[in-house]
Parts: sequence; C-alpha cells; structure tokens
Amino acid sequence: MSKDNNTRAIFATKFGAIATTVGSAVGLGNIWRFPYEAGVHGGGAFMICYIMFLFLLGVPVLCAEFCMGRSSRCNVFGAYNRLSDEKGWKITGLIGIIASLMILSFYSVVAGWTVEYCFTSLTGQLNFHDRTKGHSQFVELTTGDRPIIWTVIFLICNFVILNRGVTKGIERASNILMPILFLLLIAFCINSFTLPGCKDGIKFLFKPDFTKIEPSVLLGAMGQAFFSLSLGLGCMMTYASYFSKSTKLGNMALTIASLDLLVAVLAGIVIFPAVFSFGLSPEAGPTLVFEVLPFIFNQLPAGVIWATLFFLLLFMASLTSTVSMSEISITYLCEEKNMSRKKATIISSLIALIGGILCTLSFGSLSDFKICGLTIFNLFDYISSNIFLPIGGMICSIFVGWKMKKDLIMKEFTNDGSMKFYTLTLLIFFLKYLCPIAIFIIFLNSIGIL
Ligand code: PFF
Repeated sequence: MSKDNNTRAIFATKFGAIATTVGSAVGLGNIWRFPYEAGVHGGGAFMICYIMFLFLLGVPVLCAEFCMGRSSRCNVFGAYNRLSDEKGWKITGLIGIIASLMILSFYSVVAGWTVEYCFTSLTGQLNFHDRTKGHSQFVELTTGDRPIIWTVIFLICNFVILNRGVTKGIERASNILMPILFLLLIAFCINSFTLPGCKDGIKFLFKPDFTKIEPSVLLGAMGQAFFSLSLGLGCMMTYASYFSKSTKLGNMALTIASLDLLVAVLAGIVIFPAVFSFGLSPEAGPTLVFEVLPFIFNQLPAGVIWATLFFLLLFMASLTSTVSMSEISITYLCEEKNMSRKKATIISSLIALIGGILCTLSFGSLSDFKICGLTIFNLFDYISSNIFLPIGGMICSIFVGWKMKKDLIMKEFTNDGSMKFYTLTLLIFFLKYLCPIAIFIIFLNSIGIL
C-alpha cells in the first residue's frame, strides 16, 4: 500500500528541486553517450533530429510524467494504479522498473570507468601524451575482468547516498555538483576553440547533412532524447512526487530540457574539435570520450589536476543520475511492498550489482557472448534506450492525454488555479496525437515496416 500523501518527503527548496532533477537528467548521457551517438550517426544530422525530439516529444512527455507524479504523489507503479481503475496500465510501471535496473547495470560500468580514470590520473598512471595510445590505453584499463572492482566501488557509493534518502543525500549533493560541472565544461569549451581542428569539429557537429537522416538516425536520436531526459521509466514521475505544490511544472520541464541540451552541446564542443585535431575517428562509439579526453587535458597547464577534477565530477554527475534511476525501484518496493527503505535499497543494489558485473564482463570473459549480435552491455543499452524508454513515454503520453481527468491536469499545471497555463490545449494535443503517433511511426520505420 502506498504511504499517506502527507508523510512523503518534499524537496526543501526550489533550487534544490531544479538541481536534483537536472542532476538526474545531466550525466553520462550528455557527456559520454551524446558525443558517441552523434559521432556514429553523422554529427549535424543527428544533432538536428535530437533537438527536434527533445522539444517536440521530450518536453510534452516530461510534462506528462511531472503531472502524474505530483498528482499521485507515489511511485510509478502506484501512480498508474491511483490515477486509473483499469488494471492494465500499471504494467507500464513494471516495465519502467525493469528498464531502470537494466540501465543502472550498464551505466554503472561506464561510471566505474570514470572512477578508474580519476584514480589513474591522480596517481600519474594516465598517459596524456601519446595520441596513438588513446585506444590501447582504454582497452588496457577497461577490458578483462578487473574493472569489476570499479563497478562495485561505484555501486557502493550509490548505495551510501541512497540510504540517506532523497532530500538529505541527493538534493544537497546536486546543489553543489551541478554548477561546478557546468563551469568546468565551459572552461574546456574555451580551450576547444584554441585547437587546430576546431573548425572541422564544430562543422561536423552543427552542419547537418540531410542525406544522412536514416531510420537508424531517427531511432537513435529519439532514444537519446528520452535517455538524456531520464524519460519513459517513471524516473521523472518519481522525482515529481517530491515536488512542492508551488513548483511550476511547465517551466520546470522547459528548464530541464534546455539545461540538458546545453550540457550535451557543450560536451560536443569539447569533444569534436579535439577528435579532428588529433586525427581520431568520430565514429569510435562508446569509447570515444574516454579516448579523447586525456589528450585534451594534455593541452592544458596542470593537465593532471584538470583531468582528475573532470573525471571526479563526471563520476558525481553519474551518481546523481544513478540515484534517480535506483529511486524508481526503491520507492516501488517501499510503497507497494511495504519494505523498509534500507531493505529496498539493498535489494535494488544487489540486482544492479549482478547486472553491472555481467555488463562489465562484456568487455572481458563474456566478450564473445552475444545475443542478436550484441554483447550484454550493448544489448541492455539498446533495448532500454531505444525500445523501453520510448514505449514507456508513449504509454505515459497516451495515459495523460486520453485517460487522466482534464480538471486534474489543469489543476497540476495551474498550481490549483493560482497561475495561468496558456498552452494546456496544445500540450494535450501533443500528448493525445503527436507524441504517440510519432513514436510509433519511428518504431515501425526502424524495423523496416514503413
Ligand atoms: N539522464 C541520465 C543521463 O543523461 O545520464 C540517464 C538516466 C537517468 C536515464 C535516469 C534514465 C533514468 F531513469
């Protein structure tokens, strides 16, 4: 049974609510996943699709999740249950919980790499100087079974923060970390403009070649928009259940999407000029950022300090995201299964640990184990980001657009009638028609039916 509305924690301050929600959205998705997806899918062509999906599909679905979360004040499973008498909807909640654990598993591996890079940089073992060594150094550090240690260390940190609860652990950390990460990215961007390949890098990222827009680019850009905004699993729904009554949901959704885009663009501006300056391939895939970054630090005075600081902050940004993913299953176990927070945290961390170890081994002893041609790591990433998240987002938008009572939606977006929300009709049109139809068409298109 769900807890009483009044006993639920609420973000202490407005800044805290924004910083924590941005903390969930901004993470490896912006700094690691966006550059590699953009690199693989043709740069500017991907960028333009990504921005379009972020605002045309992402923002409306984010509004829908916020609306469901704050009006139900419970976990994703309970939210569907509370807001509708029909039983079938809550299955979406279960898909969200499973998908969140899958993402947590592969995400922890990459977050483990950030811990390892931070450590090796601090101890002087990270090679900054030899450009030809970027790939072999990455392989050396991350393959084999040894990196399991870093995944486990990361998951232990995640466990410790989660155990302290939302407002105490997560809100305080996000308040400080998010602004620092942002400033650091700006400093690196300025450095990028001094690199010889700056023009090519910027052109690659911002000049779209429309002939490159293929179904796989559309699916990838849609998946990235959902992944980056933490949408489709009920993560934002869970966080919205901690929003105070005065939080303006529409403004919040636009702020989060804009900041999230800004961080992704900054990361692109940091990475691509360096890729072109050092003669690397933008299509390197998941390893791209880890291969390129060390050489960027080499350009800077006191590179070791910058490198250590950057990987430390990336690790922290990963933590604020994994904490939000874990919160999905933890609130479910606490509120629907009446477990203590500690027990729920232990269970979800153990599941993530098993998944995380399997994903880490995809780069070691399980590298030859493939399902549909994908390693466990790639499979978890592909299924959760390109299938579960958009489907979850599509169902959420159908639910709010067609099933939720209009006066309840109105009440949420006008904060009980205390403010105006002029775009409600437009939002409902998007949720009823545009978002579900567009997501559906992109799916059919990508599996070759259309
Ligand atoms: N949005 C996060 C990032 O960009 O790193 C990843 C994420 C967090 C995905 C929470 C899903 C989620 F529920």
